[in-house]
Amino acid sequence: MTGIQIVQSANTVPERVVLNDELNAYMETSDEWISTRTGIKQRHVSTGQTTSDLCTSVAQKLLNQAGWQASDLDFIVVATMSPDYQTPATAAIVQGRIGAAKAFAFDLNAACSGFIYGLKVAEGLLQVAGNRGMLIGGEVLSKLIDWHERSTAVLFGDGAAGVLLANRAESGSAFLATDLQTLGDLGDRLTAGYQPVDSVFTTDATDAHRRYFEMDGRAVYKFATHQVPESIERAVQKAGLLVQDVDYFILHQANQRIIDQIAKRLDQPSDKFLSNVARFGNTSAASIPILLDEVIQDGTLQRGQTIALSGFGGGLTVGTQIIKY
Ligand code: ACO
Repeated sequence: MTGIQIVQSANTVPERVVLNDELNAYMETSDEWISTRTGIKQRHVSTGQTTSDLCTSVAQKLLNQAGWQASDLDFIVVATMSPDYQTPATAAIVQGRIGAAKAFAFDLNAACSGFIYGLKVAEGLLQVAGNRGMLIGGEVLSKLIDWHERSTAVLFGDGAAGVLLANRAESGSAFLATDLQTLGDLGDRLTAGYQPVDSVFTTDATDAHRRYFEMDGRAVYKFATHQVPESIERAVQKAGLLVQDVDYFILHQANQRIIDQIAKRLDQPSDKFLSNVARFGNTSAASIPILLDEVIQDGTLQRGQTIALSGFGGGLTVGTQIIKY
C-alpha cells in the first residue's frame, strides 16, 4: 500500500461527434448493429487535433484546477498507442508546451491497458523520483482506422484524460494493490500501426493495410471476459479485500457486452460497473481516465471509496489497480 492521492482529474475530447448512423456513408453498417453488439451510440473524432494537442489541453486543465504551477511537476507520463511521432515523445511535447521545466517526460505504450500500467509506473516514480506527477492517457485512434472497414471502424474514438498524483500519506488515499499481465504470444489478435522496414537495403512487401487496426474480435472478447475478472480477483486479494468491498469498477470502455459479462463473472451488481462507452466508444488508453474524471466531476465517486480500475487490450495486455480514492 502506498499513500498516493489522485489530486485532480480532467479530460478533453474533440468537439466533432460522429453518430452511428453517420458511419453508413462510409461503410455498410447500422445503429442497430453497433448498439446491440457494443453499446456504442457515438464517438468523438479529431478534425485535426493531434494526440499532443489533446494531452496538452488536459495538462493545462489539471494545473488550473489544482492551482499548481507547471514547475511543481517532477514527471509527466503519457500512455498512448497513437503518438504524434516516434520521437519526440508526446509527453515531451506536453512538457515543453506547458513549461514544466524540472519534469522529465516520456511515453508508455501498453495499448488499452496503458493508463493502468502508467499508474504502476507513476507509483514507482513517486517513491524514487519526486512527489508530484502527471499521468495522461491520450489517443487519436481515428488515424489508425480504415474508415471503410466496418468490423473495426465503428468501435473506436479519440480523446484524452489524466490525473495529478501526489505523495500524500496523511490524506488517507492510497494505491492498495496492482496486477499486471502481458500475453505477448496473443499479440497478433489485435494490431495497429505496423511500420514497414523499407530502406535502400530492403523492401518490405507487407500489406500496407497493416497500418490500420486489425482485430480478431471474438478472440479479444474471450480474452477480456476471462482475463479481466481473474486480474481483478488477484488484485483485490493482494489488497487484502473481497470483490464485494470494491465500491466501483472502472473498466476499459471497449464494449458494454464485455463490461456486463465481467460483472456477471464477478457476481457483482451491474450498477457498480460505471460506463460511458455509449458516448465515447473505445478510446484505448484514454478510456479509463475519461470515465474516472466524469465520475469524480459528477460526484459519483467520493473520497474514501474503493475503486478497481481495469484495462485490457493490445499486447495482449491486462491490468488492474485497486485504489482507495
Ligand atoms: N455493421 C454491420 N455488420 C457488421 C459490422 C458492422 N459494423 N461488423 C461486422 N459485421 C458483420 C460481420 O461481417 C458478420 O457478418 P457475417 O455473419 O455475414 O459474416 C457479422 O456482422 C458478425 O460479425 P462478428 O465479427 O462475428 O460479430 P461479433 O458478434 O463477434 O461482434 C465485436 C463483433 C463487436 C467486435 C465483438 O467481437 C467484440 O466486441 N469483440 C471485442 C472487441 C474489443 O473489445 N476490442 C477492443 C479491445 S482492445 C482495444 O481496446 C484496442
